[in-house]
Amino acid sequence: MRIGILTGGGDAPGLNAAIRAVARPAIAEQHTVLGIRNGWAGLLGEGDMEELTRRGMGGILQVGGTILGSSRTNPMKIEGGREQAMANIARARLDALVAIGGDDTLSVAALLADNGVPVVGVPKTMDNDLSVTEYCIGFHTAVSIVTEAVDRLHTTAMSHHRVMVCEVMGRDTGWVAIMGGLGGGADMIVIPEFPVSMDEVVDHLHQRRAAGSDFSIIVVSEGVEMEGMGRREDADGERDAFGHVQLSRRGVGERLASLIEQRTGFETRATVLGHTQRGGTPTAYDRIWATHVGFGAWGLIQAGDFGRMPVVQCGRVEVAPIRDVVAQQRRVPRELYDLATVFF
Ligand code: F6P
Repeated sequence: MRIGILTGGGDAPGLNAAIRAVARPAIAEQHTVLGIRNGWAGLLGEGDMEELTRRGMGGILQVGGTILGSSRTNPMKIEGGREQAMANIARARLDALVAIGGDDTLSVAALLADNGVPVVGVPKTMDNDLSVTEYCIGFHTAVSIVTEAVDRLHTTAMSHHRVMVCEVMGRDTGWVAIMGGLGGGADMIVIPEFPVSMDEVVDHLHQRRAAGSDFSIIVVSEGVEMEGMGRREDADGERDAFGHVQLSRRGVGERLASLIEQRTGFETRATVLGHTQRGGTPTAYDRIWATHVGFGAWGLIQAGDFGRMPVVQCGRVEVAPIRDVVAQQRRVPRELYDLATVFF
């Protein structure tokens, strides 16, 4: 068989583990595996792919990013893009295509599957917002980085008796904020699923002072809608090919910090974790589960079970249609938010 693999959307630690988990067993059984460069972009024009070797898989398990490169290219938004992708798949004589990505990459995969392309998906997004699956490559590492950052902010906040606002990623959902905030013991977590008003933030900070806590850590998702934060749609800059604005440009962390300082008089600082949450070494958990889902994709290819993807449910690898995984966003449930508020 000839198998193509691509990684699309924002990179995430653990991608290389998934690439390796597809390629190594396939190469061991004498199949040809082609790495497609830079997501869907590698299937446009003349196509951009090269053969992966057993030796090339050496030493990548522990490395962040993706050896294949990534992009936010959307072939469905480029004139003739779908036809170019299908022509390159045919020219490369691919018997199977593995698309590793989040909702954008996987929605393209689902459309190609509808057009008869033998594609399987693999769940990846540090935002952790795919439906049906409890695991997405990169989320665990991101949570670990946020937790460590909150730990570090604690000691400096305590020393200076300050409010520290920590802005984290998560385009539409608050998974990174809630889990990183829980792990680090944040004193307030502001996420899109459970909006709070400025008055509530200010009251909470005053209550903490009155109760003897002269510092506070607030974790805020870049995607929150809140008075004084500006509308998400109005964020500066161009939209990407999937229609997303760059939320970091809203400067939610800085804006919240300055409103807090104005309204409370408490000295306040903002920290924006940005792409550090997606960079560097994957945690053991991400390596292990990326290996599980990558190997699951190889199993689907062997079975000729296309248009589907491995997902994790109740700690086991199961299989679901790609279409179902991208049908809607998985949002932070009430009980998880309520658990975090116990420690505010
Ligand atoms: O989709 C994952 C994500 O990391 C979001 O959390 C964030 O809003 C966005 O990507 C950032 O995108 P870019 O890599 O284009 O700056």
